[in-house]
Amino acid sequence: MSRTFRNLMVTGGAGFIGVNFIRWLFDQPDGPARIVNVDKLTYAGNPLSLLDVEKRAGDRYVFVKADICDAAKMKEVIEKYQIDAIAHFAAESHVDRSIVRPDEFVRTNIFGTYTLLQAAREHASQIQLFHHVSTDEVFGTLGDTGFFTEDTPYAPNSPYSASKASSDHLVRAYHETYRLPTTLSNCSNNYGPYQFPEKLIPLMILNALEGKPLPVYGDGMNVRDWLFVTDHCSAIWRVMTRAAFGSTYNVGGRNELPNLRVVEKICDLVDAKAPPLPGGKPRRSLITFVKDRPGHDRRYAIDCSKIERDLGWKPAETWATGFERTVAWYLSHFEWCAQVRSGDYQKWIATHYA
Ligand code: NAD
Ligand code: TYD
Repeated sequence: MSRTFRNLMVTGGAGFIGVNFIRWLFDQPDGPARIVNVDKLTYAGNPLSLLDVEKRAGDRYVFVKADICDAAKMKEVIEKYQIDAIAHFAAESHVDRSIVRPDEFVRTNIFGTYTLLQAAREHASQIQLFHHVSTDEVFGTLGDTGFFTEDTPYAPNSPYSASKASSDHLVRAYHETYRLPTTLSNCSNNYGPYQFPEKLIPLMILNALEGKPLPVYGDGMNVRDWLFVTDHCSAIWRVMTRAAFGSTYNVGGRNELPNLRVVEKICDLVDAKAPPLPGGKPRRSLITFVKDRPGHDRRYAIDCSKIERDLGWKPAETWATGFERTVAWYLSHFEWCAQVRSGDYQKWIATHYA
């Protein structure tokens, strides 16, 4: 069994994973006839990343600047574009920001997801699928051993993961209570092109390039399970097209690495690919241990055997190939990085997407 969709609404499609998902999906033979990208364009939303897609896809691609918390607007989009499936990526996604300002996380991640679910429910005869994109961080932290499975109890530790956990529960409830056709995926840390340079990997690449300090939290021994972003995209599409309604799938790369090792690897790749630092000092010398993040989860590791077994998914990249591609991408897209970090970019958004 494989589902097909005509008009797919992608929320948060101007963010890191959403951009990669839209780019990837337009290259798939079983993609939808049209993608409607609904994004509020927060600091993390970069329509620049899709300018070429906009040109190439013609009327197969529509961009709507909107807040998912705006119920009237969600209804309007679903009706106007005859949406038959929703892939819900939109979220506030950075743990450090959630520690400083949890309010936007509660609003977008919880209230925004509720608003979308309600809009989907009110168009029950039209919506064939609501897919919710979530994180492994809902499961909390692991010790030195063990893996998160789909049955691991939720135990979120940051305002970000608590807000995502809450949204997952709402998705479950809308399936159980209203029989909304939902699927849900919980994925490990993604990396790759178009990630806003506040997250570990792009931040370290750009700081290393510019000879700036590389801030490693705590002892650098926190472990994350890294997955190349297009492998996440293919997993989401597998789940959307083949999984049973109400099911959840864990997605991960079997690529567990301590942060310090990730940063050292990035230093070596940047040394090999970019001009040397003044005096020829190695980039590893920029590594600076800083105060730990409060509530910092020690280890994440995904057991992805269910999606491998049920849906035949497996990742295409290893961390060695994926890191190499990622470093090369940032080094050759310096203009993109400069623009998304500049104040001018916010002005550009205001004029182009008023
Ligand atoms: P991101 O921060 O790069 O992008 C989020 C996008 O959502 C942005 O384009 C932003 O403008 C948009 N957005 C934010 N608030 C909105 C609102 N109220 N209305 C409409 N649009 C809004 O995030 P990402 O890394 O691409 O993550 C996408 C999804 O995947 C999130 O739900 C996140 O929880 C989940 N996820 C991320 C990772 C990861 O490693 N990045 C891993 C697992 C799951
Ligand atoms: P991050 O990219 O913020 O993802 P998450 O917190 O969702 O896992 O961080 C990945 C890991 O890197 C996490 O253990 C925190 C750590 N980290 C640093 O050590 N220094 C940094 O500057 C950042 C942004 C993260």
